[in-house]
Amino acid sequence: MKIEIIKRRPQALDCDMLIIPLFSDTKRPSEVFIEIDEVLHGALQQAVQYDQFVAKLGVSLILPTLGHLPAKKIVLLGLGEKKGIKADTWRKAGAYLVKLASQQKAKQIVCSFLPVEAQGFSQAIESLTEGAYLSAYRFHIYHGRLRKMETERQSVERLGVCISTDKEKRLASDAIERSRTLTEATCVARDLVNTTSQHLAPKQMVEAAKQVVGKNIELHVMDKKHMEELGMGAALSVSAGSIEEPYGVHLTYKNRKAKKRIAIVGKAVTFDSGGLSLKPAEAMMGMKMDMSGGATVIGIFKALSAMKLNVEVHGIFIAVENMPSGSAYRPGDVVTAMDGTTIEIHNTDAEGRVTLADAIAYAKTLEPDMIIDIATLTGACIAALGDDIAGLFSNNVRLTERLKAASEKTGESIWEMPMPPQYMEFVKSPIADLKNVGKKGSAGSIAGAMFLKPFAGDTPWAHLDIAGPAYVERETRPDMPYGGTGFGVRLLTEFLERF
Ligand code: BES
Ligand code: MN
Ligand code: ZN
Repeated sequence: MKIEIIKRRPQALDCDMLIIPLFSDTKRPSEVFIEIDEVLHGALQQAVQYDQFVAKLGVSLILPTLGHLPAKKIVLLGLGEKKGIKADTWRKAGAYLVKLASQQKAKQIVCSFLPVEAQGFSQAIESLTEGAYLSAYRFHIYHGRLRKMETERQSVERLGVCISTDKEKRLASDAIERSRTLTEATCVARDLVNTTSQHLAPKQMVEAAKQVVGKNIELHVMDKKHMEELGMGAALSVSAGSIEEPYGVHLTYKNRKAKKRIAIVGKAVTFDSGGLSLKPAEAMMGMKMDMSGGATVIGIFKALSAMKLNVEVHGIFIAVENMPSGSAYRPGDVVTAMDGTTIEIHNTDAEGRVTLADAIAYAKTLEPDMIIDIATLTGACIAALGDDIAGLFSNNVRLTERLKAASEKTGESIWEMPMPPQYMEFVKSPIADLKNVGKKGSAGSIAGAMFLKPFAGDTPWAHLDIAGPAYVERETRPDMPYGGTGFGVRLLTEFLERF
């Protein structure tokens, strides 16, 4: 889908669908509304009055123009209240309008104008187009002959956004540039998550990381031998059952003006069968998405390659596949992470934290000012927060607040979870430093976080458990179509940008 800025009166434009956004608390109709209403002999007013159209967010009304206008259909798109409107409302509105257009098989659509004052203009355009791009995303590569035509019929080709002055045109073009950068990066992550494990083993995660290397961005790849030399015994043990070789990936974004060094660590298990503690069939389905954290890291660097930030960023993940076999790691084994911490394995299906132990320990050696890990870590986090919200765990209040503020802007919901010190007992082992599972049936997502905490030591650290929102099979938001969501790409890029 292409987005274009159009400096013309919307009523003169030829398109499949002309969209008129409306607030629920604005009584006086806009000029465009009045003019189009006149041409349509009062159809808009009538719709608003008799059909009792209420301009709530997510509510819309479609009217045919019967040849009175070049546009084939008019859509009244509800935005909800104008007072205190947030970025996320514009984003959802943009997503709804593209969804509506694809349901109607409209190819060329125009958003007539944005009813906002000057100070909110850029934000409105940015978020609206961000929502439009995000909801237009489709993953095609596995569509065979039966589905191809259907998806082609339903994709919007062009969205025109009407503006009226040259100043607006400049603002809009910057805003759209930014939303394109962020959504393209998000969709890089989505594509990786949606690619099935047969086509996305650890080596392909390395290939994907190579794609984002460029100006200011360097890549350091660690193969199995290198990982052995570094002493990454924990991550290597998770990989031991698979014929796929493990890889460590370290991306660096450098900037001369950087005052802070931030490490982002992703979980990148390309398929999680559970290992010898094998998952039941239903739970194993969908485990191609267990590399979502790593995909988010790659997506963030894709965005960074097009942005200028005042931070140094290190993106780290260890890509492995968790499989059962004669060479697999076993329940009862004790493995040693690269910082010397010993881990008693109680369940080979709690593999994410075992790989993150080495990834976070590696990040520590870079002496960062803070570490953020992002991982599809626990089913328990889904039980606690559902599919829509990621769990946030941290040892640092300022970092927590910064992440919450970024989330408020990007619409990727996170919720702070507690880390009571006494729960550290859950992950203590009688024979090693730690064990990789907590107390059965008790605060599983917190136990996962308690396990990770010692690896960060006294470095400010946050852990995002994205087991729920990384992948959706039911629509939770209009800007997140079926499949991988790319959760965290926009959130963490926004977070990094605020330094
Ligand atoms: N990758 C899973 C967590 C997961 C579950 C992500 C469902 C997305 C959807 C993780 O490796 C796992 O298996 N966790 C176990 C931990 C348990 C064995 C302590 C879980 O959640 O059951
Ligand atoms: Mn697992
Ligand atoms: Zn897993």
